[in-house]
Amino acid sequence: MVANVLFLLLTISCTAQSTVIDIKKFGRNKDITQAFTKAWKEACASTSASKILISSGEYKMNAVNVKGPCKASVEIQVDGTIQAPADPYALKDAYEWIKIEYVDSFTLSGKGTFDGKGAIAWKHNNCRTHQNCKRNSMNFGFNFLNNSIVRGVTSKDSKNFHVNVLGCNNFTFDNFHISAPETSINTDGIHIGRSTNVKVLNSNIATGDDCVSLGDGSREVIIKNVKCGPGHGISVGSLGKYAGEEPVENLLVKNCTMTGTDNGVRIKTWPNTAVVTTVTNMHFEDFTMVNVLHPVIIDQEYCPWNQCSKENPSKIKISKVTFKNIKGTSRSKEGVTLICSRSVPCEGVELSEVSLTYNGAPIVAKCVNVKPKITGKAPKCSA
Ligand SMILES: *[C@@H]1O[C@H](CO)[C@@H](O)[C@H](O)[C@H]1NC(C)=O
Ligand SMILES: *[C@@H]1O[C@H](CO)[C@@H](O)[C@H](O)[C@H]1NC(C)=O
Ligand SMILES: *[C@@H]1O[C@H](CO)[C@@H](O)[C@H](O)[C@H]1NC(C)=O
Repeated sequence: MVANVLFLLLTISCTAQSTVIDIKKFGRNKDITQAFTKAWKEACASTSASKILISSGEYKMNAVNVKGPCKASVEIQVDGTIQAPADPYALKDAYEWIKIEYVDSFTLSGKGTFDGKGAIAWKHNNCRTHQNCKRNSMNFGFNFLNNSIVRGVTSKDSKNFHVNVLGCNNFTFDNFHISAPETSINTDGIHIGRSTNVKVLNSNIATGDDCVSLGDGSREVIIKNVKCGPGHGISVGSLGKYAGEEPVENLLVKNCTMTGTDNGVRIKTWPNTAVVTTVTNMHFEDFTMVNVLHPVIIDQEYCPWNQCSKENPSKIKISKVTFKNIKGTSRSKEGVTLICSRSVPCEGVELSEVSLTYNGAPIVAKCVNVKPKITGKAPKCSA
């Protein structure tokens, strides 16, 4: 009897319904910019858990920026497709199309799609060559959120990076999907910076730039059961470009498949800068590489478009990096490239069961300023 009552109480507390706020309550306009902001105000002020519902259908939305702190947890369930304006100037100078900040216990869920309508913006993306270029908006900015989840939804055709995670603690992406064409410029999937305890799980990320990238101050990150491709692969960095960068530590990437990407897993730092920081405890295991140009790469002379000189070595110390059980095919003969800094050589690098082929033959490994420990089957190093 007592057990039954306890069970009942537990059941009630676990299934406690949150207050549902249907976006339609604020009008049936196709453009939900105003409705979204109003719904957020109501949800955020609610003293019990609340959920904003955007049901199936097509909607348009301009840039929104909503903030906490909120009185209780807030969920946004999106089952429809929300489109950004295709004209990049319509978003004014919004850093992100959808910016959510300073919330504890936020959830974004549903089977919906956020369509950034990036095609026009990509054509104008010339920031690599022009100083006074238009900076395109990213699809999502999740800033200073704690204990939050993004689940189920898809981010499509962002004008710039799809997702920027900044200053978050305990943030999980589960079953979150990203799609943009291989040719779309700068459309990184998820960029994480200055955040702790971030997980990316069970997700497919097809895009024109990095799949997941870790900027400075990323700590305790787990990436698991993720499929990347097309795109530029999973990347730590680039680091070393800006003063005051924080260490990157404790990354586990496990059970991922990279298909047709430029890189598989990469750690990159700029040479010729004064930035001193560390990258430590990076573990990459159980990978399948399918036709990847550079499956395993540490590059401490990262200097795209010859923007810098390689005269002075990077001062970023990389240590305790393991590559374990990496299988599949490489699109270049040098399938493992480890170029470390001559001022601070890499330490504690391990290659274990790395068996990759190029045109049916084993790949070769290039190692500079690093003496990796080799266990099991793995290519021997040459300089
Ligand atoms: C998130 O957690 C940090 C660290 O505990 C805290 O300082 C911050 O106020 C929290 N933010 C919110 C929105 O709850
Ligand atoms: C992390 O956030 C999730 C989702 O809000 C929550 O269920 C979990 O308890 C949090 N974990 C910690 C260690 O606070
Ligand atoms: C590995 O990831 C794939 C998805 O890419 C998933 O289907 C599979 O169950 C995962 N395996 C394990 C052991 O978690």
